[in-house]
Parts: sequence; C-alpha cells; structure tokens
Amino acid sequence: MEEMAGMTRGRFISFEGGEGVGKSTQARMLVDALKGRGLDVVQTREPGGTPGAEAIRELLLDNRFNWGTRAEALLFAAARSDHVANLIHPALDRGAWVVCDRFVDSSRAYQAGGGGWSDDAILSLHTLGSNALMPDVTFLLQAPTDAIAQRLHERDGDNSDRIGGKPASYHARVAEHFRRLAAIDPERFVLIDANGTPNEVHERVMRAMAPFTGEGG
Ligand code: TMP
Repeated sequence: MEEMAGMTRGRFISFEGGEGVGKSTQARMLVDALKGRGLDVVQTREPGGTPGAEAIRELLLDNRFNWGTRAEALLFAAARSDHVANLIHPALDRGAWVVCDRFVDSSRAYQAGGGGWSDDAILSLHTLGSNALMPDVTFLLQAPTDAIAQRLHERDGDNSDRIGGKPASYHARVAEHFRRLAAIDPERFVLIDANGTPNEVHERVMRAMAPFTGEGG
C-alpha cells in the first residue's frame, strides 16, 4: 500500500462494454479502492465529463433528434476533444489517475462497429480531436446478452435513450466489435467476466490492476 501511495505517475484507465454490463459500478469501485490507497484519482465518463461535453451528451442521447451516423460520430469526437483538453490532460499532467467510464473504444465499437464507419475514420477523428490519446489500460466487461437484457429492463424499463434503444442486431455488432478491438490490442485490453456480484467483479479488476499499482503480478 505504501508503495502505491508513493507512486507519482498517474495512469489513464477506461472501462468499456455494452449497455448494462456494470461499467459505472466497477469504475466507482476502482476509484474508491485507489483513493483508499491515498492516490489522487479523477472519476469521469463519456460522453461527458466537462460542462461542454455533458451538454453534447444530452444532444446525443435525446430521442427527439435523428442524428445520422456522421453527425453522431463527429459529436462524440467533439465531446471527447473538450473532455480530454479540459479534464483528462490536466489531471494526467499533474500526476493524477483518471478512471473513465467509456472512451474512444466506444466510438470504435458503436459508430464503426454498430454504425458502419471504418475504424480508421474514427481513429482519424480521434487524432484530430484529441491527439490520439489512448488509455494505459482498458477493462472490457463482458456478460451474456440474456443477463444484460434483464439488467437493462430493470434499469431503463421502456425509457431507453436514443442509442440504448437501437435494435438488438446493432448491439450484437457492437459487442462483436469490442471483442475484435481487444483481440488486436491485447497489451492494453483486459477482458473481465462481468458475471457475479459487484464485489466479485471488482476483485477480478483489482487482480488485473496489480501490475499497474505495484502490488506484484
Ligand atoms: P452510457 O450508457 O455509458 O451512459 O453511454 C451512453 C451511450 O452512448 C451508450 O449507448 C453508448 C453510447 N456511446 C457511443 O455510441 N459512442 C461513444 O463514443 C460513447 C462514449 C458512448
């Protein structure tokens, strides 16, 4: 523990996965664990994290708008650009740890995988908008689709947002794309089985964090 508290260089950690898989809970539990070790930790999310990006989030998720796939990808990239410039970069520069609920891999999985853009196009937007910043480690939470459908029904009922409410075939493409991203970048991605209680999943995350926190591994 002392070893962790003595660490100065922060890390950029993202949580990814489909809807209702428990990312927000796990991000919060990791933040609490790191803070408990005396680290400077910033918890944030996408789309959002800064006032400007949260405003773009509302536009993106509003069912009144029928954004085309191009506008949607550009809006996500614009929100991310503001978030990186005004929150993530300053935090990393001062040595803080940043734990982000979704980042650019969500655009790669949803707008490219789900919406038909190429991965290269999304990465070009990310280079333009955010200097191609990538997390040091990305936890991809995975659970069977029937378990997720049940959780989503309990959480959202009939009130899913514009993207959450897209058809099952869209979400299946997103899940497949996340798996592909993890397969081509095994150094950065850590696959986490999201089945079980929040504490059980959190233990899996903490085991995978060991090499980054100086607790062995
Ligand atoms: P949330 O469910 O994690 O709050 O995210 C809101 C929605 O936005 C979710 O359906 C995933 C979607 N999304 C994208 O389509 N592209 C992105 O780049 C991000 C960050 C989220």
